[in-house]
Amino acid sequence: MPVTVVIGSQWGDEGKGKIVDLLSEDIEIVARYQGGANAGHTICWGDKTFVLHLVPSGIFHQGVTCVIGNGVVIDPVAVMEEIRTIQELGYDVEGRLFISHNAHLIMPYHKRIEQAREQARNSGAIGTTGRGIGPSYVDKFARTGIRVVDLLDRDVLRKKLTHSIEEKNAILKGVYGAEELDVDEIIEEYVEFDRLIDPYVTNTSEYLCKALKKGKHVLAEGAQGSLLDVDFGTYPYVTSSHPTAGGACTGLGIPPTEINRVIGIVKAYSTRVGNGPFPTELEDEVGEQLRKVGQEFGATTGRPRRCGWLDLVALRYTSMINGFTDLAITKLDVLSGHETLKVGTHYAYDDKVTTSFPAEVQTLERVSPRYTTLPGWDEDIVGVSHFEELPQAARDYLGYISHELDVGISMISTGPKRSQTIVVEPAGALT
Ligand code: IMP
Repeated sequence: MPVTVVIGSQWGDEGKGKIVDLLSEDIEIVARYQGGANAGHTICWGDKTFVLHLVPSGIFHQGVTCVIGNGVVIDPVAVMEEIRTIQELGYDVEGRLFISHNAHLIMPYHKRIEQAREQARNSGAIGTTGRGIGPSYVDKFARTGIRVVDLLDRDVLRKKLTHSIEEKNAILKGVYGAEELDVDEIIEEYVEFDRLIDPYVTNTSEYLCKALKKGKHVLAEGAQGSLLDVDFGTYPYVTSSHPTAGGACTGLGIPPTEINRVIGIVKAYSTRVGNGPFPTELEDEVGEQLRKVGQEFGATTGRPRRCGWLDLVALRYTSMINGFTDLAITKLDVLSGHETLKVGTHYAYDDKVTTSFPAEVQTLERVSPRYTTLPGWDEDIVGVSHFEELPQAARDYLGYISHELDVGISMISTGPKRSQTIVVEPAGALT
């Protein structure tokens, strides 16, 4: 059995957690391929709500094994805390969670440097989640990072850490005039992790490839969204990894030839958290309504999310890059109660009108979207689980998106609970 990849098609927070959770019922392995504790996947199960930052949401399905791949940057404090919480909720983790020995670690100096850098940027700040993600990837590519495998050898860890902390302290003090970190304190804290993390560490690429050979079905779970991809997103207002489809291969060590399904998660409107261009943003009462009804506040930082209309220019672009085989539309219920709904179809700037997504942030910041207006609906559709029960205008809205992107819809989410979902059979049939 091959690999299904689940990818956010916008700026993250599309509701991937719920979709991964639903798909996990028929899957043996869920593997996270990039990002770190900057992601927050909210899962509602019965009356309970969980936010997972690092461990894939499949952990709540007893038959599922979870993998944190080499492409993820791991905060050992955060991952151990999450494991403890999951265990307290009554779920086995040992033997069901594997962490790549090649994954890089987030250290306290990464957070400190990020904080200092963001402050120094002033109005040009990226608006990061403050989890040390960017600086950790910087060290990875500068080949000075510390990997999970280093935690298993106290002598190597002590040597590498001493060198890194001395270097980072020089930067913190010399460049940013910030407070330095205590070398011994950090070493003491981190050498403890070798004991705690040991049962989970393995060569996850080999584990996944062997599982695929045996016919197991792997779900590759991305974090953030395609427009935050370091290469294809709204650079520099991006995250430091590859949420897009290629990231699944490099972030897990699996061959591209094993991937046969790429599900694009599309929120029925747009949101963005953090700074950067957002052409269809609504800074009025409609945006406020979307934020309120959709409870658009960051799962990791609690920041209010910026809200706006659906943007087909951006979606055609991310669909092209990722090669979506089908779409899961989320939060459709949030759109109830609008007389009309707008959908951005083109961007206009200078004397040009384009359907291409501009690469330069300066252009993206000044484009004016051209909209198509569609009829809205008044009915409360929370919990609708059959397509035929949706109001005609909602069905037309979905049909319009699918037609414009030329990709079929396989799932529609009408509320946070598992049962509040329309599954379209066969997958992708709704076009
Ligand atoms: P970083 O990933 O913390 O470096 O933040 C870089 C940008 O990505 C900022 O705009 C963040 O708000 C955004 N970002 C990071 N993780 C998420 C996420 O899970 N959802 C939405 N935005 C995110």
